[in-house]
Amino acid sequence: MTGTSTGAVRAPAELWQLAVDTLESNWEHDHTVPSRTLYPHQWSWDSAFIAIGWSHVRPERAWRELASLFRAQWADGRVPHIVFNAALPVGSYFPGPEFWHSAVADAAPTAATSGLIQPPVHALAAWLAYRRAPSEQGRSELRRLYPRLLAQQRYLATHRDVAGSGLAAVVHPWESGVDNSPAWDAPMAAVPADVAVMSAYRRHDTAHADAAHRPTDLDYARYVAIVASYREQRYRDDGLADRHPWLVECPLLNAAAGAAEHALARIATVVGADPGPHRERAARITEALLRRLYDPVTGTFQPRDLRTDRLIPARTALGLMPLMLPDLPARPAATVIEEACSARFGVARRMDRPLPSHDRTAPDFEPLRYWRGPSWLNLAWLLRRGLRDHGRPDLAAGLRQSMIDLVARSGCHEYFHPDTGVGLGSPAFGWTAALLLDVLADDDPER
Ligand code: DGY
Repeated sequence: MTGTSTGAVRAPAELWQLAVDTLESNWEHDHTVPSRTLYPHQWSWDSAFIAIGWSHVRPERAWRELASLFRAQWADGRVPHIVFNAALPVGSYFPGPEFWHSAVADAAPTAATSGLIQPPVHALAAWLAYRRAPSEQGRSELRRLYPRLLAQQRYLATHRDVAGSGLAAVVHPWESGVDNSPAWDAPMAAVPADVAVMSAYRRHDTAHADAAHRPTDLDYARYVAIVASYREQRYRDDGLADRHPWLVECPLLNAAAGAAEHALARIATVVGADPGPHRERAARITEALLRRLYDPVTGTFQPRDLRTDRLIPARTALGLMPLMLPDLPARPAATVIEEACSARFGVARRMDRPLPSHDRTAPDFEPLRYWRGPSWLNLAWLLRRGLRDHGRPDLAAGLRQSMIDLVARSGCHEYFHPDTGVGLGSPAFGWTAALLLDVLADDDPER
């Protein structure tokens, strides 16, 4: 890594302890908060990544993490992207439970939650947690989770297949997990919103982090407008195509859904269910991703804006994520690897800079602003799995080392400057700690 990061370089044992301490200090009775300051409730895909980390040190917490999240699953199968901790005072987060008002929805649970989803990485997390620490408790946890994971997949395949394409649509940038990615600029620009509405709210994120590193107020005005439209319909999914202002098919979310079917096939063999239907569904998702989101000209995957029925041209790290599908055919896998190794993303056997979240060569690359350039450990972790599955353990090893280097220099930050490695956002972030434990434990990166 080049540049001016001033953080200490830590040895692996010290790093391991730092990550464990970070998870311990973020543990909150039955789940782990992503950050005590910035994100004090439970977030869905954070919990999945965090469970993978816990499986290395306290496996029972991995199961409690997933169990508490799935207790808030809606009757329609959706797993909400935030589960609010009722013990926290009003105003602990924006947008909080009073904004989401999940009780308006027939399918909502008693606990207050958001009405949105996030990428379904939970089946993969459950499988990895079990494989890391197989036990009778693990088997019974898998048996309990299996029908819930099935319902989560069914929700995506039915309620959210808005275009009838075989892919799930996301109804809000927050559902993609990469809130203000340049991938969403064009569909966001089409959402009518007035930045003045933000004077009625108090943003929580900019009270704890530099506003220049976060989404803008205009982004937030649009986020709020999109939620308001969904909430007015009581978070119902029928008729979305006719009325909802923001609808996108995202390569990351759908690749995660495909990877979930592969994980469920393995879980099925442990819980005595039939893995066959999972393999069939996985193949159908891969086929739909190729048909709908693969651009043979760029050789990468791009989101589809369902309001225009066009692929979104921004080349963000989202386009690399379908490599996590083990059944991605050789030709698109090769072009995606080429994209990952290009100057845009810089993946190499020895990386001098970490994986950015957006094309480094693009004019709208912003190295400090959240998902518009900074480096995030979860994207690197997902891509690393794909590189290993597609016969590039050398590149996977380079990516692994770059992840370790980031935390060694800067600590368990939420995200990192993609040139200097300086830590940004929360300084004690759950999934950074958890995924670091996972890559450190994997001491044979070439296997
Ligand atoms: C939210 O409020 O859930 C946003 O995704 C935080 O970035």
